[in-house]
Amino acid sequence: MAGEATAGTWSYDGYDPAQERLREALCALGNGYLGTRGALPECDADEVHYPGTYVAGCYNRLVSRVAGREAENEDMVNLPNWLPLRFRVPGGAWLTPDTAPVLGHRQVLHLDAGLLERRTRYGLGQGRALTVRQQRVVHMADPHLAALRTEFTAEGITAGLELEVEASIDGGVTNAGVARYRDLDGRHLTHVHTGTGSGNGTVWLRCRTRTSDIRIGTATRLAGDAAAGPVAVRHGHGRVTQELRLTLAPGRTATVDKTAALHTSRDPAISDPLRAATDRVTAAPGFEELLETHLTAWDQLWRRADIDVPGEPGRILRLHLFHVLQTLSPHTADLDVGVPARGLHGEAYRGHVFWDELFVLPYLNLHFPEVSRALLRYRHRRLERARAAARAAGRRGAMYPWQSGSDGREESQRLHLNPHSGRWLPDHSRLQRHVGSAVAYNVWQYCQASGDAEFLHTKGAEMLLEIARFWADSATWDESLGRHRILGVMGPDEYHDAYPDSGRPGLDDNAYTNVTAAWVLTRALETVRTLPEPRRRELAERTGLDGGELEQWEDVSRTLYVPFHDGVISQFEGYGDLAELDWAAYRRRYDDIRRLDRILEAEGDTVNRYKASKQADVLMLGYLFAPAELASLFSRLGHRLDDDIWRRTVDHYLDRTSHGSTLSGLVHGWVLARARRAETWTFVQEALRGDIADVQGGTTGEGIHLGAMAGTLDLVQRGLTGLETREGALWLDPVPLPELSSYGFAIRYRGHWGVRLRMRHGHMEIAVPQSDRSPIDVRLPGRAVCVPPGRTCRLLLPD
Ligand code: BGC
Repeated sequence: MAGEATAGTWSYDGYDPAQERLREALCALGNGYLGTRGALPECDADEVHYPGTYVAGCYNRLVSRVAGREAENEDMVNLPNWLPLRFRVPGGAWLTPDTAPVLGHRQVLHLDAGLLERRTRYGLGQGRALTVRQQRVVHMADPHLAALRTEFTAEGITAGLELEVEASIDGGVTNAGVARYRDLDGRHLTHVHTGTGSGNGTVWLRCRTRTSDIRIGTATRLAGDAAAGPVAVRHGHGRVTQELRLTLAPGRTATVDKTAALHTSRDPAISDPLRAATDRVTAAPGFEELLETHLTAWDQLWRRADIDVPGEPGRILRLHLFHVLQTLSPHTADLDVGVPARGLHGEAYRGHVFWDELFVLPYLNLHFPEVSRALLRYRHRRLERARAAARAAGRRGAMYPWQSGSDGREESQRLHLNPHSGRWLPDHSRLQRHVGSAVAYNVWQYCQASGDAEFLHTKGAEMLLEIARFWADSATWDESLGRHRILGVMGPDEYHDAYPDSGRPGLDDNAYTNVTAAWVLTRALETVRTLPEPRRRELAERTGLDGGELEQWEDVSRTLYVPFHDGVISQFEGYGDLAELDWAAYRRRYDDIRRLDRILEAEGDTVNRYKASKQADVLMLGYLFAPAELASLFSRLGHRLDDDIWRRTVDHYLDRTSHGSTLSGLVHGWVLARARRAETWTFVQEALRGDIADVQGGTTGEGIHLGAMAGTLDLVQRGLTGLETREGALWLDPVPLPELSSYGFAIRYRGHWGVRLRMRHGHMEIAVPQSDRSPIDVRLPGRAVCVPPGRTCRLLLPD
């Protein structure tokens, strides 16, 4: 069952072990620096529960032996657990929902407040019950702090009831949150030491990661109210525990507050992480005061990211926004981190950074441009590594990795497990070279939306240039076709990694790769040509760029090959020769065919033989480029892309995609909206349900799908409004969507904070707040208006 939602909350009623991991992910709290899953503090990690705490960018690599081979993997590390707090009547068993009678259980995520509340009534026998109410925050103003308030109330008692409470920091945790990875070593922490702080009621735990040697300090402070006795401390087995006794009086509530601070040696402005954590927790104010500053920080975030969409879609969008902001908050602007595909919410994909930022930055650009800039700087800091990767592959320029982690080397696994067949199989996903175009696209979009010429002229230009250079050098001339080709790659559709019966991985002329490569080359040329002259000279001196190379880019950008078959764009050369899959038969035989690749492999077949895609590939072009831009890109490549060809292409892939990635429904919804098609709403709903209904069958519990979450926000922001930021103007071309005819949001655009756009009853309203900035140049089809600060403009939209 999906969570129940009211305007500002997301809640779950009743205890359901089968749902627990999903709830833990969707009720995770974070602040961009730190994330903690919504696990129950009285439960240890087991088959049902999985507490996890992660710090953005904190990775460690380990070597394991699987299938007779050595596999090296880098993981976002599950850090010491600050959460544990258990309780029992002395002499009885510790109370957990798995061991004690649960008379009631409710978990409420307060989105506006960034607060997780749970209330559980445990039966104690003889007509007695204990209600445990907890409020938890991961602090949005001070990213190193978290706090847990626990209130105990006993019923059915006539005299005081004794309760034993234990609060710990657990350094014995491992990365064990993803069943598929369990054959791999998950013990990332070592040298665990514990101690008692000099501050009142504080204890600490320090440790370090085994190979990346990141030192971690966690400190907690425990404070009970008048009902509590003195606090005792126990050390041992990689954990430190504080014990206290409460006397619960009839009708009275007793409160215990646990405050936690966490630092790692990657943090700036600290001496050492342990000292920083103990100092911070000692200086932290009480729960109420912490809550106050936390609420103010959240209030400010919501104002900056305001989105107003009515009904159920609106509530889901707010949940998505909540998790995006918890993963990438203004604190991220100060960190050296990328966009983790599964948030700070779980261990799937090991916290790695893929091309998913393509679905995240366009949203952030218009609300938190400084965060986008930081995420692009993460890429820029790893440009040298990407250059080295290109060199090692015998190419010029920069080859960004498909999966990136700490230092920007290729982190994609070499083997992956098919849980259906139990076989470890070669993983060729690293051939998705198109990730470089995603980086370039984001550089360009960020600069267009923010007007940050400084970035474009410096780091942005360097990345564009080196990525373009890589494409130009990857393209080979085919005399018989009279075209340049890019051979041996994979497109976004991960089902196809080789030609059937070929001994060599990779495919030729993936249309998405070639068209985006042509786009990158075009943009790089434009950037180099428009750079201020002194800067152009510097760049040329540093990179050895000369006129000959620019001519080559020009040539390749016009001659890259785009394959077609049966009047539609082919996903890659030879795609048209693949067999048709009997979709109906597979749908009859399997409940869920989203992971057709695994099903077919387990049957001894391979999805490489079929015209079947996991996710949008060719259609990604309709996501990245508005129709006019796409048509002009094709025309530059010497092809006519009219509405008819595009419609047939959309239909072709619509019928042949299993949506084995949450990104797929999103892109299809977007593309269909732009093509003004009736099926749009079905896909928009699929994209909205992706995580809350866990449509990929158990994957959300391993971490949210950040790209799809941010993508749905951007679907409203840019997809439905047709919003583009280019040539210094704000372009709008709203799509009529009967199911969503009224909505509004605020954006930050080129120094204008809180520009409000509202769509209602065939009208569009644009309100620009008072400031000393220049008026905003707004372009709609066939119309241009200039909206000065302090003015609201109301426009009637064409039918
Ligand atoms: C998708 C990729 C995506 C990755 C991380 C995969 O399932 O196929 O496109 O980048 O998940 O989210």
